[in-house]
Amino acid sequence: MRIVLLGAPGAGKGTQCKRIVDKYNLVHLSSGDILRKERAAGSQLGKKAQSYMDSGGLVPDELIVEMMAEAIKQLADGFVLDGFPRTVNQAVELDKSLAKSGQKIDAVLNLEVDDQRVAKRLTGRRSCPECGEVYHIENLKPKVDGKCDKDGSELTQRPDDKPEVVLNRLETYHKLTEPVVDYYNSNNTVYNVNADRDIGEITSDIFEKFSQLVSAK
Ligand code: AP5
Repeated sequence: MRIVLLGAPGAGKGTQCKRIVDKYNLVHLSSGDILRKERAAGSQLGKKAQSYMDSGGLVPDELIVEMMAEAIKQLADGFVLDGFPRTVNQAVELDKSLAKSGQKIDAVLNLEVDDQRVAKRLTGRRSCPECGEVYHIENLKPKVDGKCDKDGSELTQRPDDKPEVVLNRLETYHKLTEPVVDYYNSNNTVYNVNADRDIGEITSDIFEKFSQLVSAK
């Protein structure tokens, strides 16, 4: 299965992707995670992306499309895309690139949740710099305060989760990424998922939608 997961910053895309790939044996490709790794490695791409990410804007399409096309090319089987495509142009380029190898997106999941809720989620998010595990100071606490359950590393806050940057990220989402939902609505199966619920409830809903998809194939 080739799946696109859409949703505002903080809608829970990363959280749900981890559960989806575990159950369906798919690869999780997060454009944000790839960019953060490029930054940590000090690559040219990472340096170019830095200012856009820190201000809550989007990294230019020409950098992202090439980066993601390269990552997707390495995958023979299914994947879940998280954070990409984020503009209509990126979605068009993705379709073109998949079509070259006779592939297409099988389904799109759109996580729906309001701005106030996601702002709270983002400012309370903490993550493990070593393994990438994601927590929340109220909703998903680690067993030991401030430490990763998996490897004991000190949890950190993403620089773009500061309140002023979160506002810009949400503005960017409404302006540039929401139209991607309309793009997919016109030629793909789009499942809208109420993401203003308990994490486990959302996962069950997604798995149910996936079982319909698998049995329809
Ligand atoms: P990226 O890393 O993709 O960030 P994002 O889309 O803003 O999404 P997040 O990772 O912040 O949120 P999420 O939906 O994954 O939520 P999570 O599961 O962590 O992008 C970062 C930047 O990179 C962009 O701003 C841009 O500059 C650049 N970039 C990336 N891709 C790009 C592209 N394609 N084009 C151009 N630029 C690009 O959950 C958030 C928190 O909420 C966690 O603490 C979690 O525990 C908690 N939580 C999750 N679900 C629930 C729930 N149901 N109830 C309560 N709490 C919950």
